[in-house]
Amino acid sequence: MAIAADIPRIRVRDCVVGFGDRVVLDHVSIDVMAGEILGLVGGSGSGKSVLMRTIIGLIPKRSGTIEIMGQNQDTLSDEDRQITQRRFGVLFQHGALFSSLTVLQNVQFPMREFLRLPEHLLAEIAATKLAMVGLSRKDADKFPSELSGGMTKRVALARALALDPELVFLDEPTSGLDPISAGEFDALIRTLQQTLGLTVFMVTHDLNSLHMVCDRIAVLAQGKIAADGPISEMMLSEHPWVKSYFRGPRGQLISQRLQHASV
Ligand SMILES: Nc1ncnc2c1ncn2[C@@H]1O[C@H](COP(=O)(O)OP(=O)(O)OP(=O)(O)O)[C@@H](O)[C@H]1O
Ligand SMILES: [Mg+2]
Repeated sequence: MAIAADIPRIRVRDCVVGFGDRVVLDHVSIDVMAGEILGLVGGSGSGKSVLMRTIIGLIPKRSGTIEIMGQNQDTLSDEDRQITQRRFGVLFQHGALFSSLTVLQNVQFPMREFLRLPEHLLAEIAATKLAMVGLSRKDADKFPSELSGGMTKRVALARALALDPELVFLDEPTSGLDPISAGEFDALIRTLQQTLGLTVFMVTHDLNSLHMVCDRIAVLAQGKIAADGPISEMMLSEHPWVKSYFRGPRGQLISQRLQHASV
């Protein structure tokens, strides 16, 4: 079902999430518009993964509303919720490939769950997804234990794209990769976003990714969205965490290097 371009693909309002006495998200509100790559950043343990997992329905919230593709997730029937779930793909922080399945079978997994297709078509579509993320046919029969970190991320991305989603959630897609592989992965995300018209919600610590890939950045601190805007605004922010992250020694170095590279 097509929805108007000005309706946020993700709309979170006043979302409160906690575990026992601990409130992790304290009235968080955020929008992600169609075709946008939003980077969510914040200290370790600040609740980035919790926010992503809450949006996709894996963690219950105490209050607030979450709309995906314009639909309030709380008021959907089970059937409609399943339909929404088919429209987004997810790359989890800890890879989460099934170790007993081959690369090809991992990519086919969501298709088997949601689509009824003959075997040869499943194999063909999965092979196309693998090619899309830069993997070859000979990688298809490998098991996760035989893959490098970068290949694992690519397979996880291929699996996130298995159902031709309009929206993808990526939790730390470049963590654990060397800078060159991370840069290649960033370029891949950018290319896929442009060619497939994806909307991307990306949790990341990677300053390079924030500079190179994200259209907008949201900062999670003390359970709230502390800042929200393009990288140029982050570079000027006086919020203590934002300032030390983007203008601390590492942030400065990366920003200068990227400015040099672009002139
Ligand atoms: N299922 C859970 N039960 C209890 N506490 C949890 C659960 N999931 C997350 N938490 C807690 O919520 C807080 C936020 O965790 P979260 O995984 O979202 O951090 P994060 O910002 O993604 O950190 P990192 O950058 O290290 O991945 C942490 O204190 C964590 O221990
Ligand atoms: Mg996390």
